[in-house]
Amino acid sequence: MTNKELIELAIKAKAYAHVPYSGFKVGAALLTKSGKVYTGCNVECSSYGISLCAERTALVKAVSEGEKEFEAIAVVGGKGDELTYTTPCGACRQFLSDFGNFKVVIGYKENNEIKEKEFTVKELLPENFEL
Ligand code: THU
Repeated sequence: MTNKELIELAIKAKAYAHVPYSGFKVGAALLTKSGKVYTGCNVECSSYGISLCAERTALVKAVSEGEKEFEAIAVVGGKGDELTYTTPCGACRQFLSDFGNFKVVIGYKENNEIKEKEFTVKELLPENFEL
C-alpha cells in the first residue's frame, strides 16, 4: 500500500468525523504489518474533554481486533472539507508510541494538490514515556 492510497483512506474516514463543537474534521488510516487497514475519525462529545481523536479511534479499533504491529498511519484534517496540515496531538503521539516506531504520513492540500510529509512516531515524540 502506498502513502497516497493510505491518505485516500484517511480522507474517506474524515468524512465521518462527528464534530458538532469544533467543526474540525480529522481522519486516520492505520496500516498493520499484516496488510489490513483500520480507519478512524474524531468523535466529539458534549463533555468536550472526553472527545476522541481520529488516530486513537483507529488504533483502538485495530488493537481491539487483535492487531498490535503497525507499518504506518496516515492522518488528514481540516475544517469542513479542507485539508490543512494537521499533525497528531501530544496524547495521540504517546498512544502511538506505545505500539512501536512506525511511519506517520501527514496528507494536506497545497495549490489544490494533495501533498504528503512523512515522519516516524519517534521523530514526533522523542523521549516518549515508557513504563
Ligand atoms: N483532533 C484529532 O482528531 N486528532 C489530533 O491529533 C488533533 C485533534 C481532533 C480533536 C477535536 O475533535 C478536533 O480535532 C479539534 O481539536
